[in-house]
Amino acid sequence: MPALSAITVDVHLRDDDMRAALEHDVRDGLCRRPKAIPPTWFYDEEGSRLFEEITKLPEYYPTRTERALLEAHAVEIASLAGADTLVELGAGSCEKTRILLDAMKELGTLRRYVPFDVSAEFLEDAAASLASEYDGLHIHAVIGDFLRHLDRIPTTGTRLVAFLGGTIGNLVPTQRARFFQALRATLAPGDHALVGADLVKDPRRIVAAYDDSAGVTAEFNRNVLRVMNRSLDANFVPEHFAHVAQWNEHAQWIEMRLRAIGSQRVHVEALDMTVEFDAGEELLTEISAKFTPEGLAAELDDARFSVENQWGAEDGEFLLTLASRR
Ligand code: AVJ
Repeated sequence: MPALSAITVDVHLRDDDMRAALEHDVRDGLCRRPKAIPPTWFYDEEGSRLFEEITKLPEYYPTRTERALLEAHAVEIASLAGADTLVELGAGSCEKTRILLDAMKELGTLRRYVPFDVSAEFLEDAAASLASEYDGLHIHAVIGDFLRHLDRIPTTGTRLVAFLGGTIGNLVPTQRARFFQALRATLAPGDHALVGADLVKDPRRIVAAYDDSAGVTAEFNRNVLRVMNRSLDANFVPEHFAHVAQWNEHAQWIEMRLRAIGSQRVHVEALDMTVEFDAGEELLTEISAKFTPEGLAAELDDARFSVENQWGAEDGEFLLTLASRR
């Protein structure tokens, strides 16, 4: 008889916390100049579906490049990390998880998987199917925000924390420094972090990845307006906003914005707030920073992680970095 897998779920973020955070971010962001809203709010059900669609677009190279790097190097990564616990930040549907879990299983070290995500929805289904695929695997899901709840990661065992997909690029440098410091604080010497980051390259290729010809990214971008309409009873007309993806050479990041086509007045009923957009005024919805291998290594070193290895795609498209907490 196969050993039973146990599933535990710790919830540090409830629906009302999420609601309060959304209200805060929208109130704060729509009063700013320039207006801005954090990318967190793209991902309702429709937004997550659109993101899945983006990952399959010919122009959007990061997902498939990262998966190929993981497939090529997972066993080496797992053996360098020597971990019995895989923690995955922003696990979502746990799509790339199996590659690392398989490698740890092959090496005989795998004991526990800790998916960490803001949304319980995906996690519960994903956890159930992983439990049936990996005999004896202990799944300890943590529902939380990786900017606030890193200290809730289970402390026992030897941990490998995977932060994949290039999500690190959604943070500005000061947020990244705080994130890496908080991660170090929650880990013990000898634990590891595995970071997937997109690399600086020909801006035309980057811009194409964020402004695809099928217009999927444009819909993904506009979806944040639909999220506000539905959850805050706002009356944005998504079609009155144009998708903008621009490379910021100085900051080395892509910026996604929504540009008002004509002047507009939007009411956000739940916040009792009316917002004016001048014609052409923009709402910043996401930054996606691109790295150099040396630059990312320096940021990790500043947070007192020692880079053990970096694996880049041949064409310099994407990078995996393994670092140990010292
Ligand atoms: C999932 C945050 C890594 O920044 O490339 C894709 C999100 N935005 N297309 C990224 C995204 C526009 C993606 N991350």
